[in-house]
Amino acid sequence: MNNLLLSTENHIATITINRPKKLNALNFETLMELKQAFEQMSADDEVRGVIITGAGDKSFVAGADISELAGLSVEQSRAKSQEIHELFFTIENFHKPVIAAVNGFALGGGCELAMACHMRVASENAKFGQPEVNLGIIPGYGGTQRLPKLVGKGKAIELMITGDMVDAEEALDLGLVNHVVARVDLMEKCKEILAKAAQKGPIAVANTIKATNACHDHTKKGYELEAQLFSACTHTEDFKEGTQAFLEKRPAKFKGR
Ligand code: COA
Repeated sequence: MNNLLLSTENHIATITINRPKKLNALNFETLMELKQAFEQMSADDEVRGVIITGAGDKSFVAGADISELAGLSVEQSRAKSQEIHELFFTIENFHKPVIAAVNGFALGGGCELAMACHMRVASENAKFGQPEVNLGIIPGYGGTQRLPKLVGKGKAIELMITGDMVDAEEALDLGLVNHVVARVDLMEKCKEILAKAAQKGPIAVANTIKATNACHDHTKKGYELEAQLFSACTHTEDFKEGTQAFLEKRPAKFKGR
């Protein structure tokens, strides 16, 4: 794989998103590799739990790759959003526990990926946010659906319309992460949780995840609306301005068109 490092030790698989120069931004190739990785791990009885993390010390995942998003038509952006929804449903419904080891920025698609995992453990330097509004778009990989479930509707809307980031301690207070630990202890903490679960009956663990997921509304209506509204935003002048401004490293000037 070009963008992922995969390893398995003591029944725990680690997926490291490995594009540190781009702060591990999710380009489409990386997302398809993630899909392949989950297919492989699903069939592998040796694997009892999964950790997803980012390469380097600065970033878990700094979002969808903005340079790719900028080139999409409305139809393509809707199809992509739906495709990534399916991938993230696969992670959310995976029958073995999945932890996001958040080692820095978890922004946009990065925060959405972390929220699709069953649990999140953050290092002290982690920062979470849904800054899509800075680009003139909305979260398109499930953020509008999962963030309110984790932190409540009011805080979720505040975070999504301001684009503000929260640090690891605030994420802990909000219930966005399970634990905050020193960077050096991050992988160990995730392994400790998964090692405990790996000693339990795999069917009981899988059924716990399945039953717990069922406590949320599993109709896909909200996700479908998100994909539609995300792609509608990509048709605006504001989106062109927002992405251009990011790539040119200048503030965006939005006009509401
Ligand atoms: N997509 C594509 N490239 C990205 C990216 C993204 N989401 N996030 C960061 N990068 C790239 C930058 O363009 C830069 O590339 P370059 O060195 O070729 O110019 C490199 O990663 C390093 O990022 P940089 O912005 O220089 O680091 P920073 O420390 O100054 O800022 C962030 C870090 C995370 C605050 C900033 O990169 C950022 O705001 N990223 C976008 C976050 C976002 O909007 N995500 C949602 C996308 S839908």
